[in-house]
Amino acid sequence: MAKIIYQTTAGEQYEIEVANGKTVMEGAIYNGIPGILAECGGSCACATCHVYVEERFMDKVGELGEYEGEMLEETASPSKDNSRLSCQIRVTDELDGLIVHLPEKQ
Ligand code: FES
Repeated sequence: MAKIIYQTTAGEQYEIEVANGKTVMEGAIYNGIPGILAECGGSCACATCHVYVEERFMDKVGELGEYEGEMLEETASPSKDNSRLSCQIRVTDELDGLIVHLPEKQ
């Protein structure tokens, strides 16, 4: 279980306890957090679960998934060095306190 903190561009912040094994995307969708659409349901095929990972957590969220890099070229908001698809970040205890910033649009 880890507390994941989702921050919107409007300055809203949502702190959600997400079970280990779930993804950061699922934590948002199951809790009705606006700003993550996840149209493909987590198959790494839509890029509508794009987030910007707070820099200090970049070494904890793991490597890009096999097709994630390609999908990050399709994001509606600009892709940056700290861009990830939240469906590809699986929650572990180590991610407790993880902050992800939601992009302006998906
Ligand atoms: S939910 Fe579609 S790419 Fe993540």
